[in-house]
Formats: sequence, structure tokens, C-alpha cells
Amino acid sequence: GSVIALVPAAGRGERLGADAPKAFVPVGGTPMLGLTVRGLMAAGVVDEIIVMVPAQLVEATAALLPPAAPARIVAGGAERTDSVRAGLAYAGAAAHVLVHDAARALTPPDLIARVVAELRAGRPAVVPALPVVDTVKSVDTAGRVTGTPDRSALRAVQTPQGFAADVLRRAYEHPESATDDAGLVERLGIDVHTIPGDPLAFKITTPLDLRLAEAVLDGKQV
Ligand code: CTP
Ligand code: MG
Repeated sequence: GSVIALVPAAGRGERLGADAPKAFVPVGGTPMLGLTVRGLMAAGVVDEIIVMVPAQLVEATAALLPPAAPARIVAGGAERTDSVRAGLAYAGAAAHVLVHDAARALTPPDLIARVVAELRAGRPAVVPALPVVDTVKSVDTAGRVTGTPDRSALRAVQTPQGFAADVLRRAYEHPESATDDAGLVERLGIDVHTIPGDPLAFKITTPLDLRLAEAVLDGKQV
């Protein structure tokens, strides 16, 4: 079956605080979205790409993608889940769907290929995950610590997250919001499988992340 990648790129990038919406901010001279689409193509396992951008940028986006990109550009929505839902409407008859943040612009193609390999092996839902480096606390609204979950059982998850297409469609029938797509799939009671993530798949969120990404692309020691 074919593999389609949905690329949410419709966020404003408030934490980055740049002049342009985050996915359009250059890293090493190329807009993040261009790097992300290039990485998806380089993985060699993606048949089609749907990019969800702010509505006013739909027409301008084509010029920012690699010329031969098998990509369709559509308008995203107010929340990330709205953007993914908008893209999913164009998933057609694909057997497998990847959801991959435009903001993870340095994601190694090998990680994308590993997610797809797990889907082809029959997993319904696959997420890249890394151990958590900081100790994590839960707190109440007053800031008082209410608990310290066992760090060895925690993982920080990345994208691309991969799904059997019917599973992701069912997950998006429910109206709730979630911070990742796998979160919606978990609520269906479907097993979500983790595979080792990659530090280079980090999400460019803050100005420090952007400096890190620039340095990585420059081949500098960081
Ligand atoms: N995204 C989207 N539609 C939204 C919000 C986010 O497509 N309404 C996308 C972003 O463009 C990004 C990815 O989802 O590629 C991950 O979101 P995040 O890192 O939070 O990006 P922003 O929402 O743009 O940043 P911020 O939360 O700092 O405003
Ligand atoms: Mg956001």
C-alpha cells in the first residue's frame, strides 16, 4: 500500500518569535518546510506529501518546496489537530499515513524509513521516542509538586508518527484535542509502538533550538 505524509506547517511559531510563521523561517538559508519535505523525499518511502500551511500562504508555498516534490499544499487550521484533520481529508486511498512536523527540519531520512518499515510489518501505530533526560515533576495550579513519575518509564516522543490509515481516520472522528496524534489513537485502545528516536529529529521551538539547527547544518561543533 502507498504511504502519504501529512506535514503540519500552519502554526504561528509564537515561542520562536520570528517575523514569519515558523515553518517559513530559514535554517541555513532554506525554509524549515523545504528541509522537511526534502527529508521526506530522501527517505525513499513516501509516495505523496500533503503540506498544511496558513491559509494566506497556500499559493506562495509551492516555490519553497523542492521542484520535483510530490506535494499538495492545503490550508491548515487554528490548532495542530485541525491542521492534521484538514490534511487527512486528502489522504485518499493511502494504506499508511505519516504525520511529520515541519518544525522537525533536521529529521534524518533513516528515521522516517524505520517508521514506515514498522508499519509495513503490521504495526497499527508507531512513534519515535527518546529517554527523558530531566527528572519530570507533576505540579498543581499553585506550583506545588504533587509527584515524581519514574523517569525510566517516561519517553519524549517525536515525529514522524506513523499509522495505518484507517486507524488515524478513526482517531480523528473524535473531537478532543491532543498534543500528538498517537494520543488520539491511544484513546481508541489501539497499541502504539515506540521505536528509538533520533536527537536530530528535535522540534525547533525556541530561538535556542534555531541556533542549534543552524550550527548542525553548518557542521559546527555545538
Ligand atoms: N501546526 C499546524 N497548525 C497549527 C499549529 C501548529 O500545522 N494550528 C504545526 C506547526 O507548524 C509545527 C507543528 O505543528 O510544524 C508543531 O507545532 P509547534 O512546534 O507548536 O509549532 P507552532 O504552533 O508554530 O509554534 P508555537 O506553539 O510556539 O506557536
Ligand atoms: Mg504550537
